[in-house]
Amino acid sequence: MAEPKENIVMFPFMAQGHIIPFLALALHIEQRKNYSITFVNTPLNIKKIKSSIPPNSSIKLLEIPFNSSNHGLPPNTENTDILPYPLIIKLLHASTSLKPAFKTLIEDMIEEQEGKPPLCIIADIFFGWTATVAKELGVFHAVFSGAGGFGLACYYSVWLSLPHRDVDSDEFELPDFKEASRFHVSQLPLSISEADGSDSWSVFQRMNLPAWVDSNGILFNTVEGFDQLGLDYFRKKLGRPAWAIGPVLMSVDNRTRVGKQAGISPDFLKEWLDTKPENSVLYVSFGSNNTISSSQMMQLAMALEGSGKNFIWVVRPPIGFDINSEFKAEEWLPEGFEERIKDSGRGLLVHSWAPQVEILSHKSVCAFLSHCGWNSVLEALNNGVPLLGWAMAGEQFFNVKFLEEELGVCVEIVRGKTCEVRYEDMKAKIELVMSETEKGKEMRRKAKEVKGMIKNATRDGYGFEGSSVEALDAFFKAVMLKRDGANHKP
Ligand SMILES: *[C@@H]1O[C@H](CO)[C@@H](O)[C@H](O)[C@H]1NC(C)=O
Ligand SMILES: *[C@@H]1O[C@H](CO)[C@@H](O)[C@H](O)[C@H]1NC(C)=O
Ligand SMILES: *[C@@H]1O[C@H](CO)[C@@H](O)[C@H](O)[C@H]1NC(C)=O
Ligand SMILES: *[C@@H]1O[C@H](CO)[C@@H](O)[C@H](O)[C@H]1NC(C)=O
Ligand SMILES: *[C@@H]1O[C@H](CO)[C@@H](O)[C@H](O)[C@H]1NC(C)=O
Repeated sequence: MAEPKENIVMFPFMAQGHIIPFLALALHIEQRKNYSITFVNTPLNIKKIKSSIPPNSSIKLLEIPFNSSNHGLPPNTENTDILPYPLIIKLLHASTSLKPAFKTLIEDMIEEQEGKPPLCIIADIFFGWTATVAKELGVFHAVFSGAGGFGLACYYSVWLSLPHRDVDSDEFELPDFKEASRFHVSQLPLSISEADGSDSWSVFQRMNLPAWVDSNGILFNTVEGFDQLGLDYFRKKLGRPAWAIGPVLMSVDNRTRVGKQAGISPDFLKEWLDTKPENSVLYVSFGSNNTISSSQMMQLAMALEGSGKNFIWVVRPPIGFDINSEFKAEEWLPEGFEERIKDSGRGLLVHSWAPQVEILSHKSVCAFLSHCGWNSVLEALNNGVPLLGWAMAGEQFFNVKFLEEELGVCVEIVRGKTCEVRYEDMKAKIELVMSETEKGKEMRRKAKEVKGMIKNATRDGYGFEGSSVEALDAFFKAVMLKRDGANHKP
């Protein structure tokens, strides 16, 4: 009889942007055929995840008890996607109450396996406390970051030192990450720029982040070849390995399963793109859970029209309107905009959600105007597409800085959700990146170079293992070493 497979427990934070990379990683590890995977989450999220798992997958789903009503949250709110910004920190604090239930869950698994613990626990960057539980129970633990190395290093460093509070100027350095050069306060997400060390976010992060030292290492959805600076920060800071195993992305099929209803048929989209010259289309999308203000939307429309470039724009109702309501072009866009771009064939408005990977992999696409969430960044780089960065939250500002200053594949077009924008400035940047300027050509060349690095890093077979494949091997070696060490204890 075959030995039962070793079990891996995976536990993402309750947010779509965290659950999706964890699912992608789970499906990636499942390809190795040697492990069974248990995916842990709260009841309502498990219900949702169930429909996202491909039918041929053997990933097991396990509920951990949670009732949002008991934590000052509205009933049945278990995911940041349905919470307004001020309540997100409440959900983070509430999630720390899962600690005893999580410990019991692992202890029950150990008992069911006649004393044999799961092979390892892979948990979220917001679940530092899971590392402490794993340590207590003698189980190997890794943090998995869906964010890139550089972006997360900045995020980690800023939270621990709040350096912007110590200087009079609007600029600052990170004391333990000088390699990242200078920052401006406008490059901080709201949670950090408002933090004073005793607010709710600070209290949470100052419990969460230091607990990572209890972990055995960090898995990153990135590539060593271009993200070493940030990876080295964690190696030095925590004295733990950082394994760059990416990019691990959802396949188009699986993404459609987790995604929202696409606002356009993929066939129509492909036909439209096929009629456009190579490198001539700008793709504009701010991710699955963002929108911009109505004045920004108006200016962006004018910039797109004024630039004379082809474009595909994923539109949603602006800030302040129900995001799921109907898009009112006549109200939120310049008069006659939709008819003009339709008649000229120059632009395509897609409502709500577009098949992003299919767009980015089409040869007609020249650049991507993006909020620079790490998943979107990886999808762009994987296809050698340069970016126009418009960060909105979290570590996105640091991603834009990294892509612009370190990799040279991005130009920042706008910073933040609330700033004033002028269409002339946006139009100039769109032209800079998309036209045959020195800068534009250089960016396209660099983006192709990064694409080559990714291809190389993920190569497997014919006697060659890329760095990301090697890193996942190294991770499993470290896991086995710990397990075998435990078995040999007297
Ligand atoms: C799968 O696991 C078994 C038992 O732990 C081990 O002997 C074998 O080498 C593993 N195979 C691969 C391909 O990792
Ligand atoms: C499930 O099917 C997909 C698509 O055919 C395949 O790539 C994947 O390897 C399969 N997964 C498993 C666990 O067999
Ligand atoms: C959650 O708790 C509230 C109040 O304690 C209770 O009314 C409700 O039934 C609970 N929900 C579930 C799904 O258990
Ligand atoms: C995020 O997506 C959820 C689910 O579709 C939606 O209810 C929520 O309003 C969205 N929030 C934003 C800011 O897009
Ligand atoms: C590909 O990876 C190998 C080994 O990791 C390395 O020696 C080589 O320089 C890489 N090539 C490119 C184009 O990055």
